[in-house]
Amino acid sequence: MVPRVEHEYDPVMEIHENILATMGNTPMVRLQRFFTGEAILAAKLEAFNPGSSVKDRIGSALIAAGEAEGLLKPGGTIVEPTSGNTGVGLAMAACLKGYRLICTVPDKVPVEKIALLKAFGVKVIVCPTDVAPEDPRSYYKVAERIRDEDGAYLPYQYHNQANPMAHYRTTGPEIWRQTDGAITHWVVGMGTGGTISGTGRFLKEKNPDIQIIGVDTEGSVYRHYKEHRALPPADKIHPYLVDGIGEDFVPGCVWWDYIDRVITIDDRTGYQTTMELARTEGIFCGSSGGCAAAAARQVASSVGAEALVVCLFPDSGERYLSKLNDQWLGEKGLLEDPETPGQRET
Ligand SMILES: Cc1ncc(COP(=O)(O)O)c(C=O)c1O
Repeated sequence: MVPRVEHEYDPVMEIHENILATMGNTPMVRLQRFFTGEAILAAKLEAFNPGSSVKDRIGSALIAAGEAEGLLKPGGTIVEPTSGNTGVGLAMAACLKGYRLICTVPDKVPVEKIALLKAFGVKVIVCPTDVAPEDPRSYYKVAERIRDEDGAYLPYQYHNQANPMAHYRTTGPEIWRQTDGAITHWVVGMGTGGTISGTGRFLKEKNPDIQIIGVDTEGSVYRHYKEHRALPPADKIHPYLVDGIGEDFVPGCVWWDYIDRVITIDDRTGYQTTMELARTEGIFCGSSGGCAAAAARQVASSVGAEALVVCLFPDSGERYLSKLNDQWLGEKGLLEDPETPGQRET
């Protein structure tokens, strides 16, 4: 037998305790080719998290909330309706803590995301996208049924205040520190609303003049709700192609008091901006990041040289390769016009 060698503990060794300890402190990068105006435009790149998305930040926070409330016991089961990224964040924390995870996902989720969840040992249940949230077939209702029938813990990222609080504790302070407190406009997509609410509250508490700007999709309810405090008429709520942002209801995680306004970006602009970013800045983000960049460029174009506009790229385009390619974009009519600069021949 090889004798065990006792190493002296070296306090300066850079070995993380586990994968979750590598989370956060994601880089912020200036977008100088994408935006050539006077203001500074930068993006915070959440794909640098260990599970490659902003949702890593809430995974362990949601599990800790369930443990604290006594809803999650050792060896228990967690069920969550998620379009993928939250599933990965939960999955990493669940693996380390010995919990079983079931994710219900809408059927528009790309195949890569489902395979990714399964790689972590997650059970994935695919549900129809084009049904109302109250429909028993919706991915929300299927998750609730598993909670009720099997006694699983349903964190419900849409309403669990541990979601925005994770951003209040981590993402907000990072943005403040990385901009040395000089940020003037924060532009961020709204899915559950957790990211904008937690970061928005932190930044407003530091400086109430910072403009907190949400990014919504066409067909979603957020902009209308912000402006009218009511849902839009039913014929204005419809499916869209961008992943991760927009909703057909208003989740309890949206803290409207910290949000100044909401900008709507349509599918075509969102996808074309995603591809433009890859080709001008060498940054390949998901389509929600493309929407955030498009909105942030609108904001940056309307302000002076003293402005520091920062937006959030929630994840990587590599997670959507089955959509972010010429064939799929062409089929959906989302390709740029051939004469548009940045379009490449394959
Ligand atoms: C790809 C992507 N972008 C943006 C968001 C929005 O973040 P939040 O849910 O904190 O509003 C999500 C959330 O699901 C997402 O998965």
